[in-house]
Amino acid sequence: MMRLDRFLSGQTALSRRETGEAVRRGRVTVNGTPVRTPDAKIDPEKDTVTLDGTSVSYAAQHYFLLHKPAGVLTAARDRSQKTVMDLLKPEDRLPGLFPCGRLDKDTSGLLLITDDGALTHRILSPKHHITKYYLAQLRDPYDPAYEALFASGMMLREGAAEEPCRPAEVTQIGERLAVIALTEGKYHQVRRMFAAAGNFVENLLRFQLGALQMPVNLAQGAYLTVLPKDVEMMLKTSSISYAADYCRAYYSSYWINERAYLW
Ligand code: URA
Repeated sequence: MMRLDRFLSGQTALSRRETGEAVRRGRVTVNGTPVRTPDAKIDPEKDTVTLDGTSVSYAAQHYFLLHKPAGVLTAARDRSQKTVMDLLKPEDRLPGLFPCGRLDKDTSGLLLITDDGALTHRILSPKHHITKYYLAQLRDPYDPAYEALFASGMMLREGAAEEPCRPAEVTQIGERLAVIALTEGKYHQVRRMFAAAGNFVENLLRFQLGALQMPVNLAQGAYLTVLPKDVEMMLKTSSISYAADYCRAYYSSYWINERAYLW
């Protein structure tokens, strides 16, 4: 059982205070009967609740799969810059949502936004080592020597010290396009690994997490509501050859199209 005002503030964009007000004003019914007491107890699984005549569906947790564009900050909020939360429709900006993981401001791609703390914890836990797949557009042509270098566990500078990376995989899908598989997420890791290898990442896209691939028709800045079972795909394993095939088929002209779109 759950308080009516709490149920409403969890399922709609209204705050707890606003839902209390809406209930007192008779805008809410439970099983067809107006209920004016915000602390009335309801069973969210069984009772039918309406707000202004529209039924309020119950989802215990929310999962949004976003195609983050470059230039937007991965943060729950920021004083001056646009964040991934600003891309959600007002009615989807529910309390308790936060980005699960992080993409650099200049990186685009797959990002989960959820209020499911337990699942986020599982996904981010180092124990699971979820593999993250990226497409990098390089300034200079791809060098097959990257494969042994990345597999060896490169040393990256961390402040004054050097820290080893976990072995990573990389493969070529275009003259200056590489697919990289990482099982950790150090600060600017892909960019720093290529910089240490003498190249430079001009553009970066994350297109797959575990076995979950970014849907092909999900435009930049758009998002989908997904189910826990979809999100669980992140915990399944994939392979770089599978990811590279998908990427070659659908994302190898990602930045070319972006330019075509802009002009
Ligand atoms: N590596 C990067 O350099 N940036 C990201 O956003 C993710 C991985």
